[in-house]
Amino acid sequence: QQTLQGLAAAKGKYFGTSVDNSEISDPKLAALAGVDFNVLTPGNPMKWEVTEPTQNSFTYTLADQLVSFATTRNMKVRGHTLVWHSQLPKWVSEGTWTRDTLTAVIENHIDKVMTKYKGQLFHWDVVNEIFNEDGTWRPSVFYKTLGEDFVAIAFRKARAVDPSVKLYINDYNTDAINSKSTALYNLVKKLLAAGVPIDGVGFQSHMIVGQVPSDFQANFERFAALGVEVAITELDIRTTTPASSAALTQQQTDYKNAVLACVNVPKCVGVTVWGFTDKHSWIPSTFPGEGAALPYSDCYKPKPAYNGILSAL
Ligand code: XIL
Repeated sequence: QQTLQGLAAAKGKYFGTSVDNSEISDPKLAALAGVDFNVLTPGNPMKWEVTEPTQNSFTYTLADQLVSFATTRNMKVRGHTLVWHSQLPKWVSEGTWTRDTLTAVIENHIDKVMTKYKGQLFHWDVVNEIFNEDGTWRPSVFYKTLGEDFVAIAFRKARAVDPSVKLYINDYNTDAINSKSTALYNLVKKLLAAGVPIDGVGFQSHMIVGQVPSDFQANFERFAALGVEVAITELDIRTTTPASSAALTQQQTDYKNAVLACVNVPKCVGVTVWGFTDKHSWIPSTFPGEGAALPYSDCYKPKPAYNGILSAL
């Protein structure tokens, strides 16, 4: 039987999904996750607020649960994420820091979390969502304290702790060639020239039906030309709900085109969807009135979007 991971593997790519702790007690999800997908990204439990809720006190119960869920299904794990302004505990975001004290906090966090999973993960999203839409820097506590140096600090520490895992910088609304993706491109180019160990650029690709950019592949190609890998890391394509049949047909084309952008670029290593069933998706709670963003319906039937992916593989 054809599976997304099987067809992707024949093209030298992986096909992944995010999974969250609240989802794995759903027997249908647990039965299906390892069939179409050979990579798992933990949806939440590797984020700073979960792993280090108070300073230098680390908890891995929830992350371990998903790593073991993945391992028993022969899925590789993408670690997500180490340095991010969101889901960051207040002791970090509202702390009083100097360059030295915040650097020590970042390095300790990376050291502890990456050491815990050393040798067990294949990618880490080291740094997530650092740019505003216009390509200026997001004014996170990291940027306000350290300027752009926090990115190099994080990647250098990450490489030193676990040289076996590919290190990614990840962002959203960077699918098209636009101000934000160009800021990311320029930063990666500059950091690579300075010897900062960035292996890959992740494109979250939270998109809207009918709005998959026509220059998605060209954008991948310009990043690939820098020598890094690229990956689609959090794909979903949302629409207003209830979704019309016209929207679901357009979504089929959109999924096909998004996946093709990766398939057509040798340095694109794989695609991850941010959940695979509309039953478990972050979209309806984050974007009220929108949803139906994933390739399986809420009763686990493959949607036209699923056939769109198949036709790209
Ligand atoms: C989302 C999760 O799916 C939600 O459960 C959580 O409430 C908020 O975060 N970009 C990212 C992901 O990098 O970590 C986010 O995940 C979605 C947007």
